Amino acid sequence: MLELRNLSKTYGLGDDRTSTIVALDGIDLTVEEGEFVSIIGPTGCGKSTLFEVIGGLTDATEGRVDIDGDRVDGPDERIGMVFQDHSTFPWLSVIENVAFGLRMNGVSKAERRERAHEMIDLVGLSGFEDASPTELSGGMNQRVAIARTLVMDPDIILMDEPFGALDEQTRLIIGNELLRIWRETGATILFVTHNINEAVQLSDRIAVMSARPGRFKTIVDNDIPRPRDDDTMSTEAFNDLVQRLWTELKSESRKGMEQQEGRTVTAGSEADS
Ligand SMILES: Nc1ncnc2c1ncn2[C@@H]1O[C@H](COP(=O)(O)OP(=O)(O)O)[C@@H](O)[C@H]1O
Ligand SMILES: [Mg+2]
Repeated sequence: MLELRNLSKTYGLGDDRTSTIVALDGIDLTVEEGEFVSIIGPTGCGKSTLFEVIGGLTDATEGRVDIDGDRVDGPDERIGMVFQDHSTFPWLSVIENVAFGLRMNGVSKAERRERAHEMIDLVGLSGFEDASPTELSGGMNQRVAIARTLVMDPDIILMDEPFGALDEQTRLIIGNELLRIWRETGATILFVTHNINEAVQLSDRIAVMSARPGRFKTIVDNDIPRPRDDDTMSTEAFNDLVQRLWTELKSESRKGMEQQEGRTVTAGSEADS
């Protein structure tokens, strides 16, 4: 249903745009309806850029994004996004946050309340409708952000390191919650994480990106049976897959770090090559 074809993105740098940086280079991916696909890769390899392109927040330099054969060009109501931070408005209550997009779309107050309540219930925040996000923990804020995205009923949800700021226990619990929500809604999810355990806990497939310019180095099927509970994480199959992904990622991460430290290619020489 979601199809990425030969996606590339080059950023111009500086005022005159004379040097460029290739963030994405020839990304191909087909995601089936209801699939959960994780993307891992070194810092700076283009994961967020990929989501910005899919979400229509920035134009691809080349290639296209289709949903059910229909091109995405610009922000699209079929796509919802959840980010790591700044996901909730601190000046609005929980229910106002969740209902925000509906209000923007001119949905009636009664319907807004009903749909927002339903989503607040789904993410396990019943009773906190009138609380302010500033009174809630990081994990609860991310639940609000998830509810706010789900309420718009998107076909595809892009989640960019949504649990990156959470501690490990919270991350595990909210990961399990996300799996339950995913089952109940049948949503299609693309999920960026730097946590390999999390990728294996959650996804049907895991795409490993190379260091910049971002390409898919490999895409691995995750056949570990669901439901995956805490015991699953101590099985041999789980650890084998984590190990395999780590091996794939390690050399790319090293390259990524060298790039960040400017020890190898510079933006200018990249443009020349
Ligand atoms: N708006 C932009 N202008 C110029 N370069 C950018 C911009 N956004 C990202 N980049 C560069 O593109 C590369 C990929 O960035 P990003 O997609 O944020 O990576 P990731 O999310 O994998 O850490 C990085 O080298 C980054 O510096
Ligand atoms: Mg990023």
